[in-house]
Amino acid sequence: MPRCGIHDISLATTHYVLDHATLARQQGVPVEKYHRGLGQEAMSIAADDEDVVTLAATAAAPVLRRHGTERLRTLILATETGIDQSKAAGLPLHPLLDLPPTTRVVELKQACYAATAALQFAVGLITRDPAQQVLVIASDIARYDLDTPAEATQGAGAAAILVSADPAVAELGPVTGVYSADVMDFWRPNHRATPIVDGKLSITAYLDAVRHAYADYRRRGGHDLAEFGAFCYHQPFTRMAHKAHRHLLESAGAPPEDHDIDAAVAATTRYNRVIGNSYTASLYLALAALLDQPDDLTGTPIALLSYGSGCVAEFFSATPVPGYREHLRTDANRDAVDARKPIGYDRYRTLHETPPPTGRYVPDAETAGPYRLAAVTNDIRTYEATENRRVATYSVNSGSRGE
Ligand code: HMG
Repeated sequence: MPRCGIHDISLATTHYVLDHATLARQQGVPVEKYHRGLGQEAMSIAADDEDVVTLAATAAAPVLRRHGTERLRTLILATETGIDQSKAAGLPLHPLLDLPPTTRVVELKQACYAATAALQFAVGLITRDPAQQVLVIASDIARYDLDTPAEATQGAGAAAILVSADPAVAELGPVTGVYSADVMDFWRPNHRATPIVDGKLSITAYLDAVRHAYADYRRRGGHDLAEFGAFCYHQPFTRMAHKAHRHLLESAGAPPEDHDIDAAVAATTRYNRVIGNSYTASLYLALAALLDQPDDLTGTPIALLSYGSGCVAEFFSATPVPGYREHLRTDANRDAVDARKPIGYDRYRTLHETPPPTGRYVPDAETAGPYRLAAVTNDIRTYEATENRRVATYSVNSGSRGE
């Protein structure tokens, strides 16, 4: 079997950011509940002319600029913020990113877990033909109803991951542990723009899934917990990573001290703490945050725990390869976070209350990002690259906004 894994990873997030101090003030909630209780300081908010396609294009463009598309045979866009019930959200990336017509394009959904399934499917394709590369893009915008406890756990972001044989960044371990069950902790019926969530159940479902997925991983010959240098968890809010790690260690019969948990997860929370929940991208933002910190992790197995409500979880590992630091995008990742513009609370609420576009709609020109949603006409979305004004069109068949 060829060595297979992450050859490149690039992040993107939105134009706007809302800080939790503002949210707490408006809600009359002590800000410490958010800063300490949830471990969140701010959350990314999509501008009127941003969606999962523009975020995906922004994350993927630098990867394709660096590696070209010659070996690219498959693009999997993982999202639960789809813009169409039928057509894959990866297809409008074709003209935006000059994808070869010989690329297989598909969209994948299972709440926050889908990008991990995409990664595993990519490994399968590359094992069959190591000359091929697969671009996995995780792109999501997490929105909950206003004035609910979940509102503080919104966010948005994308991670583009080029999967390849002989990876330059990290090799994926051959063993994975999986757990799935039918749980109604979080779901979004087709007619809703926001999910229905049972917050408390979602936390216990996540913790159960962590334990079961790791047990499966161990049964299949995976590493002992003590062998990992760090633990990346799906982070709907960053304290969840602390809860998950405590639960895992306790269930393995090794009750931890607080500083043990901090040492294992703190470096993975840097981006998610200020971006918020980016659903299926969140785990990979955690991995990027860990890799972007100064310690050299070459040869150190990193545990990854993917959780998607509903629910599916997977426990697997990635090990940074020699020289990986030269291939990281640390400055660009940090710039994406730092470049966001603070949004006023009133504008945030207006954007939130604006229904999904349909019919005819011209979004406000807001984003400073390289791609934007320019218009919706007859349910056809038109995207443009803001640098060179190249235009792509895309049909959408659902929603309630427009003429
Ligand atoms: P809540 O019920 O309002 O919060 O909403 P709480 O009362 O449980 O407080 C939260 C924490 O803040 C608690 O800490 C409090 O003690 C603490 P804990 O006891 O849990 O350690 N706290 C304070 N700390 C300091 N100073 C204070 C203070 N006050 C309270 N003054 C909840 C929290 C997460 C339920 C809500 O935000 C929610 O429903 N969020 C959405 C669901 C979610 O994120 N679930 C996570 C697991 S499911 C998952 O990860 C999948 C998901 O990403 C979806 C997908 O897969 O697609 C969501």
